[in-house]
Amino acid sequence: MIKESFTLRGVEFKNRVLVASGTFGYGNEVKELVDVNKLGGICTKSLSWKPRDGNPPRRIVETPSGMLNSIGLANVGVEYFIREKLPYLRTLDTVIIANIAASSIQEYCDVLSLLEQQEGIDGYEINVSCPNVKEGGLSFGTDCSKTREITARLRTLTAKPLIMKLTPNVTHISEFARAVEEAGADAISVINTVIGMAVDIYKKKPKLSTVTGGLSGPAIKPIALAKVYEAAQVVSLPIIGIGGIMTAEDALEFLLVGATAVQVGTANFIDPSAGVKVAEGMRSYAQRFGVSDLGQLVGAMESNKEFSVLQSWL
Ligand code: DHB
Repeated sequence: MIKESFTLRGVEFKNRVLVASGTFGYGNEVKELVDVNKLGGICTKSLSWKPRDGNPPRRIVETPSGMLNSIGLANVGVEYFIREKLPYLRTLDTVIIANIAASSIQEYCDVLSLLEQQEGIDGYEINVSCPNVKEGGLSFGTDCSKTREITARLRTLTAKPLIMKLTPNVTHISEFARAVEEAGADAISVINTVIGMAVDIYKKKPKLSTVTGGLSGPAIKPIALAKVYEAAQVVSLPIIGIGGIMTAEDALEFLLVGATAVQVGTANFIDPSAGVKVAEGMRSYAQRFGVSDLGQLVGAMESNKEFSVLQSWL
């Protein structure tokens, strides 16, 4: 038997593969297509206090090895979520992480406090890094003291796992990792999407209504690996690696550079069972190479640190 599980603040995840926020709805849309109980966990689409329609179309553009999105935090709102979506999630045998987005610190606190009163939520992932809204989003996530403050405030409101989802759109993600660790976060999700754009040369207009959007998919995997590696050099809290994971091999790269677990996102749009397949593939790798506990792979990459350029500014 290979040990695949890991624990975060007392919550046990049966394996190291979660599905990323915004790519799996609230778990119910895909229930005929995939056995979601084979996932380590589900991160819900970001929840805000009020329902949001999100940005006008066009909101999604395919790009080489990836996609751009500008959804604008469209979501059903926390009250509707509790009434209409949470009852189904409660029936599942997998960890449920509620992702929260907000345009003020008070709104983060209000949403989390309301969710705290409900049964069936195992932890929180805080989106301080949506690239597609004018208020909140990146204006929080690129401000280290704001990110620290949000973490500290939310920490006082919950004893459940508090995961801060960091943006790669900063100079040194390690500063943000340090700040949220000091403020009491239990883990960090690294990375959210990378700001990008695409242009329609015939209309001479941006393809996305909001001009720029968030780039995801295999195109960002090398960036994500470098950011996870950087963060892992400076914090001891667990890192959940995200960015272009399509296969078990991709996920294993993330573990080796220091991720304790991973999230599969964009791949779900091609195959909603991608996360389950990644978990199965990691188990096969472990069997084949005599790894008794996948945890042994976390940070196990041998690196030529003396040649690493990164070290000079950590
Ligand atoms: C949204 C898009 C993202 O790429 C992201 O990381 C978070 C939120 C959005 O527009 O809803």
